[in-house]
Amino acid sequence: MAKKKPKRIGILTAGGDSPGLNAAIRGVGKTAIGHYGMELIGFRDGITGLALNRHVPVDSTALSGILTRGGTILGTSRDKVHRMEVDGQTRDMVPTIVENYEREGLNGLIVIGGGGTAKNAMRLQKAGLNVLTLPKTIDNDIAGTDTSFGFATATEIATEAIDRVHSTAHSHHRIILTEIMGHRAGWLTLAAGIAGGADVILIPEIPYSVEKVAETIRARTARGSSFSVVAVAEGARDTEDAADYEAAKLLVKAAGTPEAKRAAKSHLAHVEDSQREHTFRLARELEAATELETRVTILGYVQRGGTPCAADRLLATRLGAAAADLVADGEYGFMVAARGDNAVPVPLADVAGKVKLVPPDHEWVTAARKVGTGLGD
Ligand code: F6P
Repeated sequence: MAKKKPKRIGILTAGGDSPGLNAAIRGVGKTAIGHYGMELIGFRDGITGLALNRHVPVDSTALSGILTRGGTILGTSRDKVHRMEVDGQTRDMVPTIVENYEREGLNGLIVIGGGGTAKNAMRLQKAGLNVLTLPKTIDNDIAGTDTSFGFATATEIATEAIDRVHSTAHSHHRIILTEIMGHRAGWLTLAAGIAGGADVILIPEIPYSVEKVAETIRARTARGSSFSVVAVAEGARDTEDAADYEAAKLLVKAAGTPEAKRAAKSHLAHVEDSQREHTFRLARELEAATELETRVTILGYVQRGGTPCAADRLLATRLGAAAADLVADGEYGFMVAARGDNAVPVPLADVAGKVKLVPPDHEWVTAARKVGTGLGD
């Protein structure tokens, strides 16, 4: 009897890097190769490698020693399958990707990424590829999953930063605003702000009033605490900016023609750009309103760098192993989500293009309020 050909699968990491990507590659790889006898190849630099057919073998040697490594051994990019810059032209690379997939004799493709990556994965699924995704992002904003790997590590890093600015804010009787990543979602700021005991936490989902923030800080001064630490999400906005942003979003929704949509999208991008420096503006406003010297710390990319914490290694390994199980069962078109203690397949259509924001009445928000943290509203 002829020996059955082993399944051959491709893997890639896409979007911004996130601690735990290598742990996920290892989780998929060790299960696929060691447990099921499959072959694995890794595409370089995200969707770019898939479109240009640049890949490397991912064998047991490649998988060794990567569990604790930050970044991604495969590289990543923010390219989109249907609109990629190639040789100075914007091209739809889906047909080329389908050709590459077939030429490489792949049975499936595992794409590790966030909500944007799920959209790319859907397009490939619709073009006939067998696709699965794994949820990674420090932002924790992927729909359909309790959490994503990278979030726990970034929370640890941002919490440590908030811990550390406390002693310097205290020594100098200053306000220190610590700006935390998270794109349009406030999960990371809220989690680190609560864990680090920030006096005020500002997130995109709850527009703030500068006067309310100043009130919280003045009340602290009146109680004898002449310093304050404010955790500010990069996407947080005061009520005025939030209204402008919502109006610009509505214009995009209402646009009837492709030209109108393009114009509305460009206006939205302009509004977002003009609001980027909001933490520095808030610092000036708070200094004037409280007469306390105010400083800003932008945490930036340290939140994404370095070794993943134990919780992210565990999550990435569990979900990676579950993805290889789905390949073995021939089940595709899903994101492998974390739901409680289980790894659960969720249809890509329920994830792609959706963003999980903090509900303003979320238990973390109410807990923060109960312990006296200002939310700026
Ligand atoms: O999605 C992760 C993230 O770090 C966001 O928190 C942040 O807004 C964005 O990526 C930064 O993107 P880039 O790496 O393209 O600067």
